[in-house]
Amino acid sequence: MSALAVIGGTGVDRLGGLDIVTRHAVDTPFGEPSQVVQEGRLGDTTIFFLHRHGSPRAIPPHRVNYRANLWALQQLGATHIIGINAVGGIAPSMPPGRLVIPDQVIDYTWGREHTYDTGESGELMHIDFTEPYDAALRNAVLEAADRGDIACARAGVHGVTQGPRLETAAEIRRMASDGCDVVGMTGMPEASLARELGVAYASICMVVNAAAGLDDKPLTLDMMRATLEREADVVASLVEGLCRSSRW
Ligand code: HPA
Repeated sequence: MSALAVIGGTGVDRLGGLDIVTRHAVDTPFGEPSQVVQEGRLGDTTIFFLHRHGSPRAIPPHRVNYRANLWALQQLGATHIIGINAVGGIAPSMPPGRLVIPDQVIDYTWGREHTYDTGESGELMHIDFTEPYDAALRNAVLEAADRGDIACARAGVHGVTQGPRLETAAEIRRMASDGCDVVGMTGMPEASLARELGVAYASICMVVNAAAGLDDKPLTLDMMRATLEREADVVASLVEGLCRSSRW
């Protein structure tokens, strides 16, 4: 049986159309998830929803308990997880308002609890991460976008920085020359932890600003929030379209 979970990011703290049937306070060997997990119904489908930054708390990207979040969702039965990430646009093809279904990651984070491999199991967890996102789940997202006539970039390299500060202009120039199309702070270690658990994972990124140094406007949270508010409904309808597909 497949079951889908959605990890909401900044600006996406609930799923429109989701009738919440119960909430699960899950204790994990890694501590508490960001919040209780909501279990709801979208049409005939059971969906789990968790807000990465907690609500009403605002856990910063480097303090999110990614291990607990993914563990809890798997414990509840999730076999597939969609992470929603707000990002800055680096490539010219990624202006604010663009949705991106990334196909690659470059991880610039440090110091996060990034693995379940504590060295105690006797097995080394050298997961294959050549393709960091699950191909079938990415395709399902792209098909839902096509069905709903929702424009999105069908691939892109997601560079993940440590935060919580935004980048310098030189860091963004370096990331551009590394091949990053967008920059966010929460895509890792979420994707690799999901792979360690054997859970299919894909990400929907929403570009909320031009990355540092690429625009003459100062980067402010208010400006990012304004884009998020304008675009969150589009993300929500994409997720809803995915949830309503017959595979769950
Ligand atoms: N950089 C990093 N993370 C982000 C950005 C950004 O410009 N915008 C939204 N999340």
